[in-house]
Amino acid sequence: SNEVIIAPSVLAADFANLQRDCEMLNASQADWFHIDIMDGVFVPNISFGMPVLEAIQRHAKKPLDVHLMIVQPERYLETFKKLGAEILTVHYEACPHLHRTIQQIKDLGCKAGVALNPHTPVNVLEDIIHDIDMVLIMSVNPGFGGQKFIEHTYEKVRKVRKMSPSVMIEIDGGVNSKNAKLLVDAGANALVAGSFVFSSENPIQTIADLKNN
Ligand code: DX5
Ligand code: ZN
Repeated sequence: SNEVIIAPSVLAADFANLQRDCEMLNASQADWFHIDIMDGVFVPNISFGMPVLEAIQRHAKKPLDVHLMIVQPERYLETFKKLGAEILTVHYEACPHLHRTIQQIKDLGCKAGVALNPHTPVNVLEDIIHDIDMVLIMSVNPGFGGQKFIEHTYEKVRKVRKMSPSVMIEIDGGVNSKNAKLLVDAGANALVAGSFVFSSENPIQTIADLKNN
């Protein structure tokens, strides 16, 4: 179907109630669990690592969409696969040998994504886009939830969609009910939403609204 995929970011969950929040996502129309791994080097923040992902995996009943905001991600691809990752997304800016890294992800049996920071032009994907399953367009600077959506994102989505009619385009950062439909109209087919979902009064309803907007 051409329905948009909704991938709530567990970064915005209550880590003291992680089981409860995972069960909420299981019961909702969320399609994927978006997992933000930050190393304090590639981005100026540290999120969580393997033991927390192991706990999430025990409760999540949907695909884990793992977004690696780390340097040298190839060191940990196999570990994240073992922790349940179905989609592994690495940053273009963190991978001098991106083609090899993509190959490693595919050899593990995962779907391969490449993320672009807001300042990175989409045309750098020209010679890799047909080898990947997904482009993740950052619509905020990576490192923190709850930031303001960058409007230039729409233009980048349209350009990527022109480069490939079939690649998945996921948008990450500042997604809400105001920009969701515009992003899908521009060609996006997966939306990450952290604070908009988890700080809403009724997250299940908020996810349904994003899904059916
Ligand atoms: C930012 C992360 C995002 C973040 C989104 O570095 O990649 O996935 O959790 O959070 P919101 O939706 O609050 O911008
Ligand atoms: Zn993310």
